[in-house]
Amino acid sequence: MIQTEALTRRFGPVTAVDAVTFQIADGEVFGLLGPNGAGKTTTLRMLAGLIGVTEGRAVVDGLDVRDPAQAAQVRARLGLLPEEPGLYPDLTVRETLDFFARLQHVPDRRRRVDDLLDRLALGERASSRVATLSKGWKQRLALARALVNEPRIVFLDEPTANLDPEASQEVRAIIRDLRDRGCTVVLNTHRLEEVERTCDRVGILRTRLLAIAEPRALRRAATDAPATIGLEHVDADLVHAVAQRLGVQPDVTEDGLVIPCTPSRPMADVVAAVVAAGGRITRAVVAESSLEDAYLEVLRDAGR
Ligand SMILES: Nc1ncnc2c1ncn2[C@@H]1O[C@H](COP(=O)(O)OP(=O)(O)OP(=O)(O)O)[C@@H](O)[C@H]1O
Ligand SMILES: [Mg+2]
Repeated sequence: MIQTEALTRRFGPVTAVDAVTFQIADGEVFGLLGPNGAGKTTTLRMLAGLIGVTEGRAVVDGLDVRDPAQAAQVRARLGLLPEEPGLYPDLTVRETLDFFARLQHVPDRRRRVDDLLDRLALGERASSRVATLSKGWKQRLALARALVNEPRIVFLDEPTANLDPEASQEVRAIIRDLRDRGCTVVLNTHRLEEVERTCDRVGILRTRLLAIAEPRALRRAATDAPATIGLEHVDADLVHAVAQRLGVQPDVTEDGLVIPCTPSRPMADVVAAVVAAGGRITRAVVAESSLEDAYLEVLRDAGR
């Protein structure tokens, strides 16, 4: 389990992470979303025992990362894919994995390396030098490197940044495979579809933790969504009357009037206003919010 309490990190005058509290259960895939500079990487680095905690605390797998000895144990136990993984250009793929396996005192190294080459489909590139690999292959190798010590807890900082859709899909398959193996995964990402496809829960961070929920629950909680009202007949008078009643100008489309719903203007009020304006409704639909809409709404509601 991973647990933080009012976890805070300052860099001089800058507060990068402010009083963040959450719990991640064993075996959970947890996504951290947030704009650039939101503190995602800083949070991961604190959890990984790589940088100090300014205030509050974090416990990873029973170890308090504020204690240097325990932080060292955390580092040894977990698998980390950093934002910019350092790989040695002159080593081959196999040599790279072997090198890091040796560094981490992995028993039965050869088998472990073969297993990783196989699992991450790196076999055909085993003897390629890192310098000759494309970005996608390098990322796959960096992932393999993060898994070299067979970690039960894996931190991935933007694992699909700069990858093409196919390579991204392969990385997501690897994340799901980690979940199937019972690993706990914390994933920083800007890709909302990645969160939808891989994460059990998601936290939205902007220095502070603004929301934490299952992706579906976040979508459902989003209240801003356009309603499309199909009508037997639309004319300028009707549009004008609806606009007056609702205080918002409807868009006129082929499907009818499109009117944004908000908490203060729910679907029921929109329908009532159209009826009161003399509209004969043939259909009324509110689009389900996408995770992106929900995410943007959370950020907007939290203000700047
Ligand atoms: N070593 C450092 N020294 C000074 N400031 C830092 C340091 N590391 C991070 N920061 C600051 O902390 C804040 C959070 O940065 P962080 O890298 O954690 O954000 P992020 O959410 O990972 O952003 P991105 O999506 O761009 O990767 C930023 O204002 C950043 O400039
Ligand atoms: Mg980052």
